Amino acid sequence: MASSPARSVATDFLLRFVGVQLVALILAVILVLSGYSVVARQYVRSQAIQFMDVMLSVREYTSRKINPIIAPINAVSDEAFLPSAVPSYSATKVFEYLRLNHAYEDFQYREASLNPTSPADLADEQEAQLIRRFMANPSLKELSGSLDSKSDHHQYFVAKPIRLTKESCLTCHSTPDRAPRSQIRVYGETGGFGWQVGDVVGAQIVTLPEDAGLPAPGRFALLLVAAVGGLSAAVVLAVNRIFSSVVFRPLFKLLQSVDKGYEDENLEKRPDEFGLLARRFKDLRH
Ligand code: HEC
Repeated sequence: MASSPARSVATDFLLRFVGVQLVALILAVILVLSGYSVVARQYVRSQAIQFMDVMLSVREYTSRKINPIIAPINAVSDEAFLPSAVPSYSATKVFEYLRLNHAYEDFQYREASLNPTSPADLADEQEAQLIRRFMANPSLKELSGSLDSKSDHHQYFVAKPIRLTKESCLTCHSTPDRAPRSQIRVYGETGGFGWQVGDVVGAQIVTLPEDAGLPAPGRFALLLVAAVGGLSAAVVLAVNRIFSSVVFRPLFKLLQSVDKGYEDENLEKRPDEFGLLARRFKDLRH
């Protein structure tokens, strides 16, 4: 029998290899997870911005296509005010219908103002802060961040200023005597007036869950560890097989032939280092 060494090269190599793999796996998980939270935030933010852009288009559509049809009716009617002429109303209504689809039920859309026409649009403390920042800094185009929330479902918001850019807005938002009488009957004459072209009159605010449409980081980490860990285990097994057939088995045969003093022709015919060693041992023995 060939005497076995106290330590085997193969086991030594494999142990080190597994160690390196483990460190690489841990590093990969940390790196991918931190990258994931950046990408997730970017994704959620882009969803919020898409919503806002769609709502801006709804507003635009109402201003251009619906208001010219309804405004004359509202102007002469003392009856109930037809809110379909109001861009803000149509945007919030469209969003309301969107939320009936339960994929969006956690989403929120607000058109908040410090001086609102509809009391429901009165800005709360956090919204008021955003609006004041937009008012103070005309070059500020967007604000976003996490919302202080009591629930453990974290919310993310993106806000953009609503700037009054059209003369047509002034019909209803300059002075109560210019506004349709039916509007005054419904909304009163205390809020939503005194606005001027160029003013920041409020803010569009989309609020959505921080992980909207994405697997939670915990589940993602588990998937990642399973995938990368499985792959690492497969690599270790494959390397083990290759290493033992390429190095360990011929080495063992060589050791045996030297120990027992017989010549192994197959080994001597090998073109590699084992063949060379087998031939050298044969020469030495001779
Ligand atoms: C036909 C009259 C009318 C026109 C035109 C109009 N609005 Fe309004 N606006 C209203 C009414 C009424 C409301 C409240 C709607 C509701 O019940 O949500 C409102 C709501 C708003 C709000 C939400 C805050 C608030 O006051 O309740 C903003 C912001 C706003 N309008 C901006 C504009 C801008 C900008 C334009 C021009 C593009 C415009 N509006 C055109 C009547 C009008």
